[in-house]
Amino acid sequence: MTNKIAERVSRVLFSAEQISKRAHEIGEQISVDYANGAARDTQRRPPLLVCVLHGALVFMADLAREIPTEVEYDFISVSSYGNGTSPGAVRLVKDLERPIEGRDVLIVEDIVDTGYTIDYLRRGFAARLPASIRICTLIDKVARREIDVQVDYAGFPLEQDAFIVGYGMDYRELYRNLPFIGVLKPEHIR
Ligand code: PRP
Repeated sequence: MTNKIAERVSRVLFSAEQISKRAHEIGEQISVDYANGAARDTQRRPPLLVCVLHGALVFMADLAREIPTEVEYDFISVSSYGNGTSPGAVRLVKDLERPIEGRDVLIVEDIVDTGYTIDYLRRGFAARLPASIRICTLIDKVARREIDVQVDYAGFPLEQDAFIVGYGMDYRELYRNLPFIGVLKPEHIR
């Protein structure tokens, strides 16, 4: 019997190599897009990457290192209430540390699913008057969307409704440290 978590996965959906390649492509695209904006405004500060804890931590770390131009970071943490009485209700657990007025904000997510979390963040940030807000997600579960949110950079669209773990995503707080994204074997789901 082994304790290796990789052996609890029945199927790899996105390998470490696939994710790395996609992160590189998106990083280059982000760099080009924001450089074009900055060229029109020499006073403009670098884009602010906002990592949505905890799931986006791994993607954010890799993506940021694939952007060859200036960026700054901040971190936010939210939680879904997850009870049947208020579907989609999102609660702020940890706010940003700095103001975002006038900043180009790029929200970095591991996954956009129903869209409630990103909608909550986008509306909350918009009230703080940033220069722009864009959304980047590694996994875009378009088929599950309940709120119409615009994703600007998506790593991989995912049509199937598989429960996925790894590369930041958890099941009961485990498996975030898998270097790939996969589907858990049913016997490891309680
Ligand atoms: C996940 C993910 C997004 C959110 C997306 O976070 O990181 O923030 O769910 O779901 P939605 O589009 O249906 O709102 P989760 O609540 O699992 O917390 P975690 O990031 O700490 O794992």
